[in-house]
Amino acid sequence: MTDAAREAVAFRVAVIEDDSVVRIELTRSLEDSGYRVIAVADGENGLRAVHEHQPDLLLLSLAVPRLDAFELVRRLRLDHRTTRMPVLALTERTGSDHRIHALDAGADDVILKPYHPDELLARVRSALRTRLRGPRMEPAHAAVIALSNAVEAKDVDLKDHCRYMAYRAARLAAHVGMRGHDLDSVAHGALLHDVGKIAIPLPLLHKVEPLSADEWRQLRRHPDIGARICGPLDVARDIAPIIRHHHERWDGSGYPDGLGSEEIPLGARIVALADAYDVMVRGRPYQAPRSHAAAIAELRRCAGSQFDPALVPLFIEETERVEAGVPAAVPMPPAALLGRELALIPVEADDDADQLTRVIDAWAGGAA
Ligand SMILES: [Fe+2]
Ligand SMILES: [Fe+2]
Repeated sequence: MTDAAREAVAFRVAVIEDDSVVRIELTRSLEDSGYRVIAVADGENGLRAVHEHQPDLLLLSLAVPRLDAFELVRRLRLDHRTTRMPVLALTERTGSDHRIHALDAGADDVILKPYHPDELLARVRSALRTRLRGPRMEPAHAAVIALSNAVEAKDVDLKDHCRYMAYRAARLAAHVGMRGHDLDSVAHGALLHDVGKIAIPLPLLHKVEPLSADEWRQLRRHPDIGARICGPLDVARDIAPIIRHHHERWDGSGYPDGLGSEEIPLGARIVALADAYDVMVRGRPYQAPRSHAAAIAELRRCAGSQFDPALVPLFIEETERVEAGVPAAVPMPPAALLGRELALIPVEADDDADQLTRVIDAWAGGAA
């Protein structure tokens, strides 16, 4: 067995190719090199096969029928199971626009037909090696999810909140231009923003009556505890500041460090907005949910005191895109997609001004 075949033996490759001659030739050449191959002739069956078999790599003809190849790649990138799967696109079209379109849709590489079989195999090996070396975020991601599960097990009210606001936060982060590792970090930081609540007694977390000064002091320790819990993670350098500072306020009156304006890490300012919005529109066991319009009005009112005034309008813009079902400008990181099935927040309109004021006061007074 050659070194390349030994390297290939554990990998599964999906081929979605409409041209039967090319499909058979690709299958044979990959199988001869030790890969296990799933070959499909059209986009719709191809997408189904990818979901069913979870291949390590996809070779995709850009001319496949029944589901546009660009749309197929976009869907794979939005699905946490396939978001990092290498996709090598095959095309006969030499125009750079076509190749750029494929790369922008999320393909990792574009190979022109007719291709040299040895070169194609070399590109497959290279893409798989890159994936294996790949982001150390994958083990970190698993650890983040485990920690997130731990805090949800403690306080089930946090489950949908953390998952949903991670998506909102990542949408805003992408909207302000964050990409790659920075975008992953915002999603992870959002998912774990309240992980320090593991250390807070449950009756205190759910207390409806006003908290005593001592109880507030205990509750306000959760950002610091959360940042320390995450200390051993590979990604701690990036996510601990988000967790520690998610209750800071733009005017410096927040906690734990009383940071103000741009002293507050950008990721923490983003998470603070997504957190506030989600708390308002989804409510809490002790707080009625607010309408989208009421929550937006409150964010506007607090721009420059509680929230970064430059981020508030951007958050509102992006939230309106989410509500309208407009997809993200770039693929969302896996940590942002855990609550994707929640899709749209069921907004119960309730604009009673007195009640709104009570909710806002309770929240602004130290929502934890
Ligand atoms: Fe929160
Ligand atoms: Fe918090």
